[in-house]
Amino acid sequence: MSDNNIDSVLIEERQFPPSKEFADNAVIKKADFDALHKAAEDDYEGFWADQARDMLDWHTPFTEVLDDSNAPHFKWFADGKLNVTHNCIDRHLADKADKTAIIFEGENGDTRHISYQQLSNEVNQFANALKAKGIKSGDRVVIYMPMTPEAVIAMQGCARIGAIHSVVFGGFSADSLRDRINDAGAKMVITADGGTRGGKIVELKAATDKAMDGGCPSIESVIVFQRTKHDIPMQSGRDIWWHDAVDGQSTDCEPEWVGSEHPLFLLYTSGSTGQPKGIQHSSAGYLLGSILTNKWVFDLKDNDVFWCTADVGWITGHTYVAYGPLAAGGTIVIYEGAPTIPDAGRFWKIVETHKVSIFYTAPTAIRALMKQGDEFPNKYDLSSIRLLGTVGEPINPEAWIWYHEVIGKERCPIVDTWWQTETGANMIAPLPGVVAAKPGSCTLALPGIDADVVDEEGNSITQANKGGFLVIKKPFPSQLRTVWGDDQRYIDTYWPKFGGKYYLAGDSARKDADGYFWIMGRIDDVLNVSGHRLGTMEVESALVAHKGVAEAAVVGYPHEIKGEAIFAYVVLRGERPDSGIDEELTQELRAWVGEQIGAIAKPDQIRFSDNLPKTRSGKIMRRLLRNIARGEEITSDTSTLENEDILLQLQGKA
Ligand code: WTA
Repeated sequence: MSDNNIDSVLIEERQFPPSKEFADNAVIKKADFDALHKAAEDDYEGFWADQARDMLDWHTPFTEVLDDSNAPHFKWFADGKLNVTHNCIDRHLADKADKTAIIFEGENGDTRHISYQQLSNEVNQFANALKAKGIKSGDRVVIYMPMTPEAVIAMQGCARIGAIHSVVFGGFSADSLRDRINDAGAKMVITADGGTRGGKIVELKAATDKAMDGGCPSIESVIVFQRTKHDIPMQSGRDIWWHDAVDGQSTDCEPEWVGSEHPLFLLYTSGSTGQPKGIQHSSAGYLLGSILTNKWVFDLKDNDVFWCTADVGWITGHTYVAYGPLAAGGTIVIYEGAPTIPDAGRFWKIVETHKVSIFYTAPTAIRALMKQGDEFPNKYDLSSIRLLGTVGEPINPEAWIWYHEVIGKERCPIVDTWWQTETGANMIAPLPGVVAAKPGSCTLALPGIDADVVDEEGNSITQANKGGFLVIKKPFPSQLRTVWGDDQRYIDTYWPKFGGKYYLAGDSARKDADGYFWIMGRIDDVLNVSGHRLGTMEVESALVAHKGVAEAAVVGYPHEIKGEAIFAYVVLRGERPDSGIDEELTQELRAWVGEQIGAIAKPDQIRFSDNLPKTRSGKIMRRLLRNIARGEEITSDTSTLENEDILLQLQGKA
C-alpha cells in the first residue's frame, strides 16, 4: 500500500449540502437519519429485522434474524419465506396495476410503456414457459440478452419459479459465455437474435451458437427473443423462439415461495486469478439491500422516473434496474443503444422525453459526454431531474462539478455510491437530503453498514487521510453468500486477514477529518476500465493463449475517459519487432483478446519485449511495468532484477 501516504492525497475543501427544499421532502430526513443510525448501533439485529419486516412482503414471517454460527457463512432471516417477483410486482397490483413500471426506448427511437399489470402478465407467462421447458427451482439459467424489457422479464421469470439466473453481459464473447455457462452448470440460455448498438447488430445468437459448439454439455434448451429480426439459424430440438415459448401460457403463475437464503442469482465478476468468479446472492437479504437503498439513497418516490444507465449484465443493472426500483414500486427507464446515437445529446434527449427525475450513471460516461461540450445537454430541458448518482470508480472533481452544474443546474444532489458486485447494494453513499457531498468522496456508510479503514493488523486508522484497507466489520443482509462452486475461494478472497472477522473489500481507502470515505484504488490485480472490473490475469491468460505469445504482463494506467486503460507487455515466441512496436500484430492481439473475453478487455497499448522484468525468483515486478506505462521515472531500486537491461527495452529506449 505504498501509494497511500498522506502527502500524495488531494484534500477537497468544497462541500455541497442539499437545498432546503430537497432536505425537507427527502425520504430520509435528518431526524430519520440520526434515528436509523442510533437504532443500528443500539440493536444491530433488531434494526435489520425491522427493516426486513417493513420493506418486504413475507409469505412465512421469519423468526431468526442473523445466524453467524458458521462464519463467514452468514444467514439472514433464514426461516422466512418469500418470493422476489411477488415483492417486485404482485404486491403493487392492488393500487398500481396501471402504473408504468418500465419505459423502454430503443436506439432507433421505438418506445414502449409497460404497466405493472402487463409486467405481471409477461413475467408469469414467461415463468410458465420456463417450467414447460423443464426448468425447476434451483436450476441455473444463463441470460445473454440485449438491454430490452425482456431481459428484466427473463430475470424476474426465473425468480418467479426459484430458478437461479446468471446474466452475462452482451458485450462478452462466446468464449466468456461458455466459461460462465459451464461454471454455473446452466440448463438453459435465454438470448436474442441480436441487439442493437451504435447502429450495428450485436450478434448474440451467433455468439451463443459458437459457445455451444465449443461444448456446453449441461444446456438443454435455448430461448431466443426476436429483437432485430435478421436471419439466424435455429437448431431444432434445442432452440425455441420466445414468442412461441410463451404462446398460450397462462398469465397466472403461483410464485415459488423460497427460503430467504435461496440463491436468487449468480453474477460473474473478475478477481485476481484468470477465472471470473460466480458471486452468489441470496433472495431476501439481497432484495432488502436493494429496495432499501433505492428508497434511501435514490430517494425513490411514487412519481419518480428512475433511469440507471447500467446494463443488466452488471450488478448495477440488477439492483437499480431489474429489482430494487420495482420492489419500491417505481418507474424505470431502459435504453438499448449507444449514448452517442445520433449524437452526444441522446441521454439528455431521453431525460427530456421521459421526464427522468433520477439519473444514475458511471464517471466514465460523464467524462465522455462532458468532452463533447455543453451544447448537447443545453439543447434539452433537464428540469425534470432532481437527483444524480455515480458509481463504479472514483469520480474526478472536474467531472463532478460539470455533472453538478451542467446536468444538475446546481439544484440536484449527487450521490456517489460505493459498493461492489459482492455487496449487492450501495454501502457507502450520502443520503441526499442529509449528507453534504464532497466532489470525489462517497461520503459516509449507510445506517446498518459498519465500514471502516484499517491497517495491516485490523486496527482502525484514526489519523485523517491515512490510507488503509476498506473493510466491513459486521455481516450485512445483502452481502454475497459464497463463490459458486468454489467456497474456498470465497473464504480466501474476502476473509483472508484480521482473523476472518472483517469482510475485505479489496479497495484501499482513507477517511478525512469529517469521517468521509475516499476510495483510493484496488489492492489486488484488478483493473477498473470504464467502471468495469477486469483481472490483469484474465487479460494475460487471454494473451498467452495466442499461438504467437510466450509471456504477457498487463498493468493499468490513467486514462482521461476510461479512468484506467490497459497496457500489455508481450514476449513473443518469435523475433521481437524493432523498437518493440508492431501495429499489425497489436491489432491482431487486440482482436484476439476481444474474442477471448470481450471488447472491454482489449489492451489500449501493447509493447513487445524480449523478456519481462523479473526478480531472481522469477516474480514479475509489476510496479516497474506500471511506472513505464504511466511514463514515470523509475526511482525505485532495480538491483534485485535479474535482467536490469530489459528496462531500457521496455521503455522503448533500446
Ligand atoms: C469500484 C460496481 C470509487 C471499487 C458497483 C469497487 C468505486 C469496484 C465506486 C466494484 C465509487 C465502485 N467510488 N470506486 N463510488 N463504486 N467502485 O463489482 O474499486 O463492478 O471495489 O461493482 O468498483 O466494482 P463492481
